[in-house]
Amino acid sequence: MRKKIVAGNWKMNKLYSEAVELVDEITIALKDDTKSDEIVKVLIPSFPYLRKVARHSHGIPNLFTGAQNCAYEEAGAYTGEVSAGMIKSLGGTYVIIGHSERRSYFHETNEELKRKVNIVLGQSLTPIFCIGESHEKRHAKEHFAVVEKQISDSLFHLIAADFKKVVLAYEPVWAIGTGLTATSQQAQEMHLFIRTLVEKKYGKEVATSLSILYGGSCNSKNATELFACPDVDGGLIGGASLTAKDFVTIIHSFPS
Ligand code: 13P
Repeated sequence: MRKKIVAGNWKMNKLYSEAVELVDEITIALKDDTKSDEIVKVLIPSFPYLRKVARHSHGIPNLFTGAQNCAYEEAGAYTGEVSAGMIKSLGGTYVIIGHSERRSYFHETNEELKRKVNIVLGQSLTPIFCIGESHEKRHAKEHFAVVEKQISDSLFHLIAADFKKVVLAYEPVWAIGTGLTATSQQAQEMHLFIRTLVEKKYGKEVATSLSILYGGSCNSKNATELFACPDVDGGLIGGASLTAKDFVTIIHSFPS
């Protein structure tokens, strides 16, 4: 059985005291919530809060901390960058790589993201690798080609044993922060396409064990329908992860 995962990408939100309040509210809600023990939950704050969030999350089954980005080099003279090793030393377990905001605002290329994947895996951390097409590419019916290229350029150099450590997140750019969620049909269609692509490259066992998350205006109201899709294994949540009540409701949205 592949893992069910709900990850909250807090992006550049929350001051320190607000972040502590949020992690406290989430951990209190999850403490006695045995029905979500099996679901992997990841809190992904800004770098400065990583240690605090990791400490506060300690002791809750399957609750982990992640980072939103990392450097593509291991260490050295890279002013302003944060390495995968640093993230690990602060208690981080997951690292988002290739979020569309990084690709568009910071011009991250598939080649750079490939290097980040290698660095993250080298530290035995789990990459949450983001893929997804723009509105224009979907309109031009090029969405499958875009996603295929993002995956093959940055991930298909991996041997199967390493690819198995990656989590994918399909986040159509047009759905992020817009309220325009992909329909469950659109999400399922793309997730199945991705799984089929992975099967062709690595075989059925690897494809079946791969967790593919959906992200893009996923919230406490639409998560149930999205998570009911056979190839949607959870969500990468932005806005709705900033409120404990909504985030916990999303964790409870998997079919029983
Ligand atoms: P929203 O849930 O705010 O649309 O953001 C999704 C996202 O980008 C998560 O990484």
